[in-house]
Amino acid sequence: MKLKGKVAIITGSASGIGRGIALAMAKEGAHIAIIDVNEEKGKATLAEVNQFTEGLLFIKDISVKENVNEIVAAVVTRFGKLDILVNNAHVSRQALFTETTQEHLDLSFGTGFYPTFHFMQAAYPELKKTKGKVINFASGAGLDGQVTQTSYAAAKEAIRAISRVAANEWGPEGINVNLISPIALTPGVEQWRDSAPQLYQEMLNKIPLRRLGDPEQDIGQVAVFLASDAANYITGQTIMVDGGSIKLR
Ligand SMILES: NC(=O)c1ccc[n+]([C@@H]2O[C@H](COP(=O)([O-])OP(=O)(O)OC[C@H]3O[C@@H](n4cnc5c(N)ncnc54)[C@H](O)[C@@H]3O)[C@@H](O)[C@H]2O)c1
Repeated sequence: MKLKGKVAIITGSASGIGRGIALAMAKEGAHIAIIDVNEEKGKATLAEVNQFTEGLLFIKDISVKENVNEIVAAVVTRFGKLDILVNNAHVSRQALFTETTQEHLDLSFGTGFYPTFHFMQAAYPELKKTKGKVINFASGAGLDGQVTQTSYAAAKEAIRAISRVAANEWGPEGINVNLISPIALTPGVEQWRDSAPQLYQEMLNKIPLRRLGDPEQDIGQVAVFLASDAANYITGQTIMVDGGSIKLR
């Protein structure tokens, strides 16, 4: 039980990687606040989490700042503390650079960058008390500047930038801030695969381990590690959990 008694907020945890992390952390004894806009899938994940530990479901849009503050307050009221913040949810649209619109940028920053920033600010006083852990999400699309990913890449690299700043500012207080840059088979990726099969195949061919990761076994286990005491001396890092696709130097 690597996270026994810990309390985690995980955004976008009704499905995909967020759900995988919720299950992996629940199996290690953490109480999980599931945050999502998808009520049906949220309830299903809550039922799964409740088999191992105590879950709390918020059907809330995290692009609304007031919701973020309400969620953090409600979690602390319910569980008395907050140890782990996982900023996982992110929605974006693909478009060539010259066809990228203000709406594309607003969607990507509105669902990815701003909620990450707002959750980190709202959670900071609680994380300071628990010497907590923040896990944010990066992407190879940002690191590598993949085609059609202008709005997504920009928001992801902005998330990496503020994560490094927070790691530097909050390190003396014992708060760790890291990122996972994943590749995993999730509903979001399945949608992308169906809309861009050629790009999907090209991506698969570039993964040295020749498969997409499993949300719980491959990504969830690394999130458990980063949230555990075993990672107390790691901060400000982007951890590549992508089958070897990108080697950071
Ligand atoms: N899957 C991959 O291969 C991959 C690759 C690189 C980066 N990532 C990153 O990993 C994270 C998870 O990816 P995924 O593939 O599981 O995503 P996904 O699209 O499959 O799931 C995202 C979840 O977030 C929820 N969500 C969306 N907007 C929301 C909002 N405004 N408020 C609350 N919930 C909201 C969705 O309902 C969904 O349950 C994201 O940050 C993504 O950018 C994933």
